[in-house]
Amino acid sequence: MAVLVVGGAGYIGSHAALTLQRRGYEVIIYDNLCTGHKELAAGFELIVGDIADSAKLTKALNRCDAVMHFAAHAYVGESVQNPRKYFQNNVTAAIALLNSVMDSRVRKFIFSSTAAVYGNPARSPITEDSPRQPVNPYGATKLAFENALEAYSRAYGLRFVTFRYFNAAGADEGGTIGENHHPETHLIPIILQAIQGKRAALEIFGADYPTADGTCIRDYIHVNDLADAHVLGLEYLGKAESAAMNLGTGQGYSVHEVVSAVEHVTGHKVPTHIGQRRAGDPAELVADPTLAEKLLQWKAKRSLEQIITSAWNWTQKTGT
Ligand code: UFG
Repeated sequence: MAVLVVGGAGYIGSHAALTLQRRGYEVIIYDNLCTGHKELAAGFELIVGDIADSAKLTKALNRCDAVMHFAAHAYVGESVQNPRKYFQNNVTAAIALLNSVMDSRVRKFIFSSTAAVYGNPARSPITEDSPRQPVNPYGATKLAFENALEAYSRAYGLRFVTFRYFNAAGADEGGTIGENHHPETHLIPIILQAIQGKRAALEIFGADYPTADGTCIRDYIHVNDLADAHVLGLEYLGKAESAAMNLGTGQGYSVHEVVSAVEHVTGHKVPTHIGQRRAGDPAELVADPTLAEKLLQWKAKRSLEQIITSAWNWTQKTGT
């Protein structure tokens, strides 16, 4: 089976591509390299193109049986400052991609969604039937695409799996690919930069949340656990109905706990200071991953320690 991995030169897409390749799938990466990195697509056929370029996409789709769509802008803060950029790419251009798929013979589609579609959920852990009420434009764009998939599936027989990721982190254990965002806003890479002296300290965004230690709780999931779920999602689409599933571990860690885990793994003290809350950060986001366990027989296998170890190895090897 041949899979078009759209956004496959990005962080999560490149890990999915590598996992697919290791499992014997034929993989074509399609990426406009606006935030992706050519190096992350090394060893793959790479088509450099935009998701709105239907002529280029159609040629690629003619050679594929399924699509995985990772190509999105994904900074919550930027989406508040510049929603136009987010709706243009994550909705308008993404619908053009979906229409190109519908004009081809491909009917299997896997979509990268996010816990951000739930906004500030009333209950934790979060199940898939929790109300989807995003509190920022990024989450709103992902929800818009989820809605399009549901409508297309009902009307046109498209089969999809929507994966709502919690906090993706870590790097491939082989050490050749990992996380490399510009600018970096995510907690674990920022902590690793702080212990390397690449930034003065980690600013902890608020220590007055209603959590045990006052800092925010998140569900950190290894990027290769996400990648494994994508392979299972593809197999699932061959035999079952469309579905949306949370991908998380079901276990939350506070910012203080992540800092301690990094200190334990690396042996370095993390310089920190407590700052203001970051606008829009919910106190706690933890997945209930039961549905993915049931439908895919998938479970996150890698621990927070393994997440940090793999990210640390990648950082040291590449200097990112
Ligand atoms: N944090 C800090 N200091 C930093 C960076 C982060 O204290 O310098 C804290 C945040 O306040 C948060 C936790 O670390 O409590 C994790 O923050 P990240 O920025 O790493 O991740 P988010 O939970 O904000 O965002 C993630 C994904 C988004 C997605 C969102 C869903 O990266 O794409 O979850 O809410 F939209």
